[in-house]
Amino acid sequence: MDILIKNGTFVSPSEKKVADILISDGLIQKVHENIESKHARIIDASGMFVFAGGIDPHVHMHLPTSAGFSADDFYTGSKAALFGGTTSFIDFVTPTKGQSLIEALNSRIKDAECSLVDYSFHISPVEWRNTTEQEIAECVKRGFPSFKVYMAYKSSVGLNDDVLQKVIDAVARAGGMVIVHAEMGDEIELLRNKLYNDGKTEPLYHPLSRPSYTESEAVKRIIEMADKANCPLYIVHVSSKESLIHIENAQKNGQKVYAETCPQYLLLNDSVYKGSFEQTAKYVLSPPIRKNEDSDALWQAIFEGAVQTVGTDHCPFSFKQKENGRNDFRIIPNGAGGVEHRLALLYTYGVLKNRININQFIDLTSTQPAKIFGFNPQKSGIAVGCDADVVIWNPKPKGTISSKTHHQNTDLNIYEGIETIGTPEIVIKGGVVVVESGALVNSTQKGKLLKRFI
Ligand code: URP
Ligand code: ZN
Ligand code: ZN
Repeated sequence: MDILIKNGTFVSPSEKKVADILISDGLIQKVHENIESKHARIIDASGMFVFAGGIDPHVHMHLPTSAGFSADDFYTGSKAALFGGTTSFIDFVTPTKGQSLIEALNSRIKDAECSLVDYSFHISPVEWRNTTEQEIAECVKRGFPSFKVYMAYKSSVGLNDDVLQKVIDAVARAGGMVIVHAEMGDEIELLRNKLYNDGKTEPLYHPLSRPSYTESEAVKRIIEMADKANCPLYIVHVSSKESLIHIENAQKNGQKVYAETCPQYLLLNDSVYKGSFEQTAKYVLSPPIRKNEDSDALWQAIFEGAVQTVGTDHCPFSFKQKENGRNDFRIIPNGAGGVEHRLALLYTYGVLKNRININQFIDLTSTQPAKIFGFNPQKSGIAVGCDADVVIWNPKPKGTISSKTHHQNTDLNIYEGIETIGTPEIVIKGGVVVVESGALVNSTQKGKLLKRFI
């Protein structure tokens, strides 16, 4: 059925104006004042903002770890995403050692078929094989041009510098982009083992084993490596003030370096690690939550454009899974959920606190991820011919985040008790109303696999 959204305030990175929007056949057909239609469902959006559905560039659904899979699969995680106004996300393909990137990609595509939002994948080479270069080129041709490398987690997916450089060179030759988890794996390994061997076993020691220089030095190093190969670089979950200095310098020098941060680094501080295991284990995620001065620097970098996106790094676990590391912080599975809260948190603590304006809010949560990762023209916003992924945002309702009421499949929430203002009143995905007044009203329309070209 056609949908006509009337009287809403349409917002994009460059505009904020009252306009009507006509949707038909899953696409935006018209954006104009005073549109009329005899056949469409009319939605009165007076007093609401209307903007493009969120694109989360960084989620880990159904991620295999030694504590079991991350708690959300593609169905539960995508449902939570829709409740929060996110209509597309990018997850990861992580092969096992010995497995080809292509085989791992094909199997991950199957895992994601139950997703309710549109999805794509970054591909993670976890070793160098004599077919890796060819596989990278094939992934790019198939529409998966972004390759995630880990400088940490050396015992599982992390790469040593020689392999890292080979991957970066191959990605550059194939016309792709490198995505990086930048932390000094070897240094962290030494620090965490020393702490543990000194009897320091609680979650409090997680951040102490990953001080901010272990991130910023890795950021500096990977920027140099990408520069050498002339390869575009996207640094995920930037958490520290020092990292921003290297990123800003590279950008000033004209290097193609993009940066992402996440709500946890903008809103929380390291006091979360004080308390019992029950209180603190959920904050074991990497990089760790840092100091207020880091959050302030990140907000500033967002405002000035040095950080282009806010992703969530959604990777929830249950308390039972976190309990694996009750006596050893090193084996607590790293990660936390957040895909559902990204828009509400950024709206409340960014827009309403005047740290960013509403146009930047759209840019960070949808327009930039689409642009950087090659979702365009399909996902370039609310414009004629684009996918009709639309959020009708009610700026008034107050809420309090809680694991008791969220839709993420975990009993933990790192934003527990945090208050929000504003919520998606209606979410339209591919031209169909999927969330309305706090309920999922369509769970049959599945998301589609998105091919990307950068
Ligand atoms: O702690 C985190 N961030 N877990 C998810 C995997 C990653 O490092 O991005
Ligand atoms: Zn990471
Ligand atoms: Zn991640």
